[in-house]
Amino acid sequence: MKNLPKYIFFGVHHVTTISLSFFIRLGSIWSFTGSIYYSHSFIHSFIMNANNNGFFYRFYLMLYFQFQSIIESQANFLNNIGVYRRRRAKIPDEQKLTGHTVVITGANSGIGLQTARVFARLDANVFMLCRDLDKARSVRKEILDELQQINNDDDDDDERIKNQIKLIQLDLSSLESVRKCAEEINRNVDKIDYLINNAGIMMCPESKTVDGFESQFATNHLGHFLLTNLLMDKIRRSSSARIINLSSIAHIPGTIHFDNINLDGGHYTPLKAYAQSKLANILFTIELARKFCDTNIRTYAVHPGLVNTELGRHLNGLALCLLNFFRRMILITPELGAQTTLHCAFDSNINADSGGYFANCRRIKNMVKNATNNNNDAERLWQLSCKMCGIENFK
Ligand SMILES: NC(=O)c1ccc[n+]([C@@H]2O[C@H](COP(=O)([O-])OP(=O)(O)OC[C@H]3O[C@@H](n4cnc5c(N)ncnc54)[C@H](OP(=O)(O)O)[C@@H]3O)[C@@H](O)[C@H]2O)c1
Repeated sequence: MKNLPKYIFFGVHHVTTISLSFFIRLGSIWSFTGSIYYSHSFIHSFIMNANNNGFFYRFYLMLYFQFQSIIESQANFLNNIGVYRRRRAKIPDEQKLTGHTVVITGANSGIGLQTARVFARLDANVFMLCRDLDKARSVRKEILDELQQINNDDDDDDERIKNQIKLIQLDLSSLESVRKCAEEINRNVDKIDYLINNAGIMMCPESKTVDGFESQFATNHLGHFLLTNLLMDKIRRSSSARIINLSSIAHIPGTIHFDNINLDGGHYTPLKAYAQSKLANILFTIELARKFCDTNIRTYAVHPGLVNTELGRHLNGLALCLLNFFRRMILITPELGAQTTLHCAFDSNINADSGGYFANCRRIKNMVKNATNNNNDAERLWQLSCKMCGIENFK
């Protein structure tokens, strides 16, 4: 109860934030926008410097950032009056990535598709790993058509462009499928320069994978953990490799339930499982960076923003109504949503930030510190993941 005043303060601030956000949307208090933004910055630094790991506190943080995203989503308007900027990645010059290979999971829709599109335009060899190849074929054709147009329908280039984008079937919820996919990639490449662990599912009803694991943890974390492990030999051959793991702001209320990772026995809720899996993405990134700190491999975890994609397909009831209501108003486009991934792929100034968590093309430090219980969690999760995948530690 000693925290009651703090919760009341946060509650009042929170309601004010929501109300003001709506007013901003309606454009009715334009002249106050600057001061609102600056009060956000102040409260943000206050929260970030506090040291409290309680569930309500973390839940508050998550809500806070959701509503900060409402402010962020006013990017055009706020940008025009000079108080806020939704950042964009600095994309290298055309053809810069000739000879580079990128592997992207979940590349047939949303953020993954936009990421694949940018890499393809930069002339990289793109491996799109997709669950449903029928869906993915039409997406691949769309990208190829765009590339052919950029190249002015030059016939000589057609064949080369067709070989530039490859589709491979991958169901992350099956360890066997992950192994098959990795084998196929390893047969086809000499080295991998970028691995983008992007695919994900969110807040689906309780279910188990073929291997008997909770679906969100298995798909969002375990499948990517195994895939990364199996591709490591080729990643090591790149002179400068980057591994990017799509996490989420939803990691904040997350806890790794080491004693009941599948949330069995009535402990499952869709949010709890999603938050656990997204925290696992961050811990994986931290441990990966630690294990490979003296190599040319850099790794980053990313929150892409609140993005208008198909990720909410499992929501229903009130959550779905709210999503549909707010979809257009507050969610950013997949093209903008891909910017932080691209920033982590291309920015040469963030080498020293390997293992870090990024949002809106910036490193966010304190957020992760608050979300992780202690430094051993990353190592512990690593060992557990090895056991669940039936593998030894990285060679
Ligand atoms: N959208 C947001 O606001 C938001 C916010 C925070 C974090 N994120 C993260 O960003 C990443 C990309 O999400 P998105 O918003 O682009 O969502 P999306 O449009 O739903 O894309 C997710 C992709 O993952 C694939 N996928 C799902 N289950 C899979 C499985 N078992 N095996 C292989 N692929 C599978 C989907 O394939 P199918 O098309 O076959 O289903 C799809 O291509 C996710 O990791 C998500 O957690 C998104």
